Amino acid sequence: MDLDECYDKAIERMEEDMRIGMLTSGGDCQSLNATMRGVAKSLYQNLQGIEIVGFLEGYKGLMYEDYRVLHQKDFSGILTEGGTIIGTSRQPFKLMRNPDEQGRDKVELMKNTYQKLGLECLVVLGGNGSQKTANLLREEGLNVVSLPKTIDNDLWGTDMTFGFQSAVNIATNAIDCIHTTAASHGRVFIVEVMGHKVGWLTLHAGIAGGADIILIPEIPYDIDKVVEKIEARSKAGSRFSILAVAEGAISKEEASLTKKDYKAKKRSSQFPSVSYEIGYEVEKRTGQEIRVTIPGHTQRGGSPCPYDRVLSTRFGAAAADLIMKREYGFMVGIKEGKIVKIPLEDVAGKLKKVEPESSIIKEAALTGISFGV
Ligand code: F6P
Repeated sequence: MDLDECYDKAIERMEEDMRIGMLTSGGDCQSLNATMRGVAKSLYQNLQGIEIVGFLEGYKGLMYEDYRVLHQKDFSGILTEGGTIIGTSRQPFKLMRNPDEQGRDKVELMKNTYQKLGLECLVVLGGNGSQKTANLLREEGLNVVSLPKTIDNDLWGTDMTFGFQSAVNIATNAIDCIHTTAASHGRVFIVEVMGHKVGWLTLHAGIAGGADIILIPEIPYDIDKVVEKIEARSKAGSRFSILAVAEGAISKEEASLTKKDYKAKKRSSQFPSVSYEIGYEVEKRTGQEIRVTIPGHTQRGGSPCPYDRVLSTRFGAAAADLIMKREYGFMVGIKEGKIVKIPLEDVAGKLKKVEPESSIIKEAALTGISFGV
């Protein structure tokens, strides 16, 4: 199809004016604006009479009719801007069916706003919980197109989420900076990387930053093995060791507990996070000097990296294409370099975890990285 034909087809698809809603939900990341820009630019480019309504602070804006009509100029100059121009908030999926403070049904509120504004569809940029709510709204009859946002890269159905590579850059940079000071002082450093349930970010930043030990939730660690690795390095003449530890790293003993007992153990722990607990154990057993560094929310901040800008632009254009074809109920994703659409019902409620037997783990282990097992 040549360009003229493409253009004619797009115009044929949309003869009447169209109003679409957009929201960003859950924890933010670097490439939300770039993704919204991708959607908006593609729609403005190909359709006449398009109006985009941005709901403020995620699903909350949709519930309480808190929105702003966005104009073409709002999407200008935001490709490189972190955060989200329409704000975000966490609205847990498990509470969606609970009435709000005034006893109103949240799902009904969202449906009412959607109908009142005469929306053609709702574009949702979100992570796991937000995709579940998007699917719930789809089940309730709303036209939904969603986009995979999260620094955790844990959304099922897509090889990559936007935000992930930018966060990998920041976490890697943190490890790089720690490397020089660790080497100067001859200390053991623990860098705690975001990711409560999955270890993609820790795994990638750990490998990229040359960590000696990587601990992720999917591979429960044995503290004796962690200590063994540090001592082996010392014996071999290394004056320092670097551990990349996911927020959700879990020991073998903890992994054998019930969820309830594990939560109780964590609540009563004297340590502010898992890294301090590991640091305490390592110091006790090796006598080496330990420091903990937590880059925390810096991992979600700043400008998106070029990879994310490209991915977000592609995702945004693909979402616009679905809207132009009126194909709803899908999340846009990427599989082996190709943009794909995945039914929301397949995505909702599934986590994409690091496989302990996967090739990246084997390769990392071959280079000498310890996973604490
Ligand atoms: O889901 C993204 C994420 O950044 C996780 O990696 C992290 O554990 C969590 O959000 C932090 O959430 P909050 O911003 O609510 O503290």
